Amino acid sequence: MKALIIYDSVFGNTEKIANAIGEAMLPGAEVEIKRIGSVVPEQLNGLDLLVVGSPTRGFRPTEPISQFLRNIPRGSLKGVKIAAFDTRVSVEDVNNAILSFLVKIFGYAAQPINKGLVNKGGFQMAEPQGYIVKESEGPLQEGELERAALWAGSLVKA
Ligand SMILES: Cc1cc2nc3c(=O)[nH]c(=O)nc-3n(C[C@H](O)[C@H](O)[C@H](O)COP(=O)(O)O)c2cc1C
Repeated sequence: MKALIIYDSVFGNTEKIANAIGEAMLPGAEVEIKRIGSVVPEQLNGLDLLVVGSPTRGFRPTEPISQFLRNIPRGSLKGVKIAAFDTRVSVEDVNNAILSFLVKIFGYAAQPINKGLVNKGGFQMAEPQGYIVKESEGPLQEGELERAALWAGSLVKA
């Protein structure tokens, strides 16, 4: 099983989740973890599993992640299993009625990532996942690295 994990991260939290996912896939898979920007299109060739993650910023993935998704050639993820994740703040923590309302409408980064990957032919392996940061710059909520590791294990086994 050849897996590639691509992520973006501004404050380092999404990077920690990406690393936890990658480590949990070993030794069952041959895993590469790449920050967006260091990914070249050829790296998508011959993959069994592609996992993409981003911080949620303005209800969306970061622009580099969105651009990467747009630039994947149509159909090139045919036969590739895909999974998407994001990091986000919990609506309960923010305790802001307007924000809660907007989140209900616009959501989080993982959904559009998932959709972008499926649109390019990828086969969705699992529900998109969101991992909670306690504040905008982190840290991650307790237990999120472990939850990410469990999710990763399920992706490899599936
Ligand atoms: C400009 C900006 C916009 C953000 N927008 C959202 C948002 O729409 N929804 C959300 O849940 N969190 C939002 N956040 C919090 C980020 O999700 C959080 O900073 C991110 O998960 C941290 O990941 P990183 O350390 O990998 O950058 C925002 C943060 C910033 C700085």
